[in-house]
Amino acid sequence: MIPKDTIDKIIDAARVEDVIGEFITLKKRGANYLGLCPFHGEKSPSFTVSPAKGIYKCFGCGKAGTSVSFIMENQQLSYPEALRWLAKKYNIEIVEREISPEERAQQNEKESLYIVMQYAQRYFTDNMFNTDEGKSIGLGYFVERGFRSDIIEKFQLGYSLEDKKGLSHTATQNSYKAEYLVKTGLSILSNQHKEGEPITEKDIFDRYSSRVMFPIHDVGGRVIGFGGRILGNDKKQAKYINSPQTEIYDKSKVLYGLWYAKKAIQEKDCCYLVEGYTDVISMHQSGIENVVASSGTSLTIEQIKAVHRFTNNIIVLYDGDSAGEKASIRAIDLLLEEGMNVKVLMFPDNDDPDSFSKKVTAEEFKDHIANNTQDFIAYKTRSLFNETKHDPIRKATVIKDIVQSISLIPDAIIRSVYVKECANIMAMDESILQLEVNKLRRKSGDKKDFKNNQESAPPETEELFTEEEKINTALVTEYEEKELLRVLFNYGNVLVDVETENSQNETENFELTISEYIMFELMRDNIHFQNPIYQMVLDEYAHQLSNERLPGSNYFINHTNPAISTFAIDISSKEGELSVNWLTHGVIVPKEVYTIKKSAQHSLHSLKEKRLNQIIHEKQELLKTASHEDAEVILKEIVRLANLKKDVNKLLGRIVIK
Ligand code: CTP
Ligand code: MN
Repeated sequence: MIPKDTIDKIIDAARVEDVIGEFITLKKRGANYLGLCPFHGEKSPSFTVSPAKGIYKCFGCGKAGTSVSFIMENQQLSYPEALRWLAKKYNIEIVEREISPEERAQQNEKESLYIVMQYAQRYFTDNMFNTDEGKSIGLGYFVERGFRSDIIEKFQLGYSLEDKKGLSHTATQNSYKAEYLVKTGLSILSNQHKEGEPITEKDIFDRYSSRVMFPIHDVGGRVIGFGGRILGNDKKQAKYINSPQTEIYDKSKVLYGLWYAKKAIQEKDCCYLVEGYTDVISMHQSGIENVVASSGTSLTIEQIKAVHRFTNNIIVLYDGDSAGEKASIRAIDLLLEEGMNVKVLMFPDNDDPDSFSKKVTAEEFKDHIANNTQDFIAYKTRSLFNETKHDPIRKATVIKDIVQSISLIPDAIIRSVYVKECANIMAMDESILQLEVNKLRRKSGDKKDFKNNQESAPPETEELFTEEEKINTALVTEYEEKELLRVLFNYGNVLVDVETENSQNETENFELTISEYIMFELMRDNIHFQNPIYQMVLDEYAHQLSNERLPGSNYFINHTNPAISTFAIDISSKEGELSVNWLTHGVIVPKEVYTIKKSAQHSLHSLKEKRLNQIIHEKQELLKTASHEDAEVILKEIVRLANLKKDVNKLLGRIVIK
């Protein structure tokens, strides 16, 4: 692990203008630099680098980031890899965080495991090309399946000999430790071995024999595991034997093929998700390289995050049977929840991508894919709707099902687009769907928010909204949320005087930092930001505050979560735009620190008012369909809320500006 202070050192040294200047020509323009954007083709420069803020932003295509994210993108590296890349460039030594001798030994061991894996991969490939058994059985199998030789080579496919000691014997002969062969899962410890005694060659035998071998790579291209397929279709044996979970292979985090796919995923800005090793390989053979497989496990959040780094768009390729479809449903829910745009594609007649690709030409295959992908929600709605057209009861369950999927989408705007579309397809009232979606989101959302900070909120405060009123609909308060975060980032430690009335109606004055004031106001009324990214930032801000740290915009700009970092950069670059314009127009920029108290209060006020309006509006909608008795209750509620609206200003506490 790279220690935090080394990360800071690297970020300090890697001046953004310096790092980027090495890849594109930058011209000085006032306080900033300007150049041609490397991310989209352009003739006049709109790519701006701000040394003061340590960020770049292209006003043409909107790409923005720090020196680290520039290198991640440009060199196709992960965050820690990019840090190491920069450390090397600036001669910063990375002394791995205070590691104990055991940890160091473990690290060395890990390195050894990678080396053993690489050896095994070469061994299996060598078997296949250079032994009679390998050529006739292993290579023969792949050739018969129609795998081209360049593809066999590219995916480093191989063959494990019938000899159950083949690898174990040859590897130990070549001084690879038997212990490491066991720890990589390549060999299995026989039960003759006595615990505590050193492991030797006679104690081990191969996990794989008489199987064709598919190496599994990490995102950097190192071999970390294998899948071994039997040659025939013997139903009694497992079709695949996969590497077990090891120190270097965590199945839940790895996607098969990601290393081969990452460049194409970025270029095409989308990724295909398939089921198996052979599907990935056949797609490459047909010229589609942005493809990964979850291989053998059901898709996990970590695997999704691994692709999400490269794109927002995923296309799930179902096997053409209903089992394939069912298996995908859970995966798709997870993908939606991660905020990805999900499309689906079915193959006809029980085909999977591999078998289908063998029936048609590469061109036809590509055409099929291009012409048959459908948006998931629309697809689900349509197919379910067709099934239930004449069955109103089933229709109700189907709606619940679809609403459930929509409610997983974190982005409120995208959610509302889907609500509209589904309402259209199902020929039903949009607001009813929206209400259902809101209900579900409230259920799942309430659990997460502000849990950690509940205790620190003053106990006797009045709740502005009752539980059911904490409703999220469209992103009407986006502006205020952003504005409050901007204040928190830049002026969190500015002091404000707050005047409130205590329970005896006496006025009390106290001094707070503006960050405490904003947090207090938000928590008191249990207000959550509607934009999930903003809420994440707010949560983290609150968490840092409770640990007596005050995170500024730099903290978030350099955040490892790209969505958060992008947002922080966006906020900071907005400010830049503003002051540049003002300067050129000869306007003096007011020192914002003098006005910040007012503007924070204004944002809070407006946020609460809008939220109240939203709730009132929803009550009014409810009123339309309510029974006589319900209507009376709702009306009373509306009156109460309308009065609250008048009082919002009072409830906010008065800031006395001195
Ligand atoms: N799988 C596995 N263990 C099994 C069966 C399947 O790990 N016993 C995983 C493999 O990663 C496999 C994927 O699930 O690639 C999909 O399974 P399947 O469609 O049965 O295999 P294919 O790879 O498509 O193999 P083939 O085309 O040879 O049938
Ligand atoms: Mn298959």
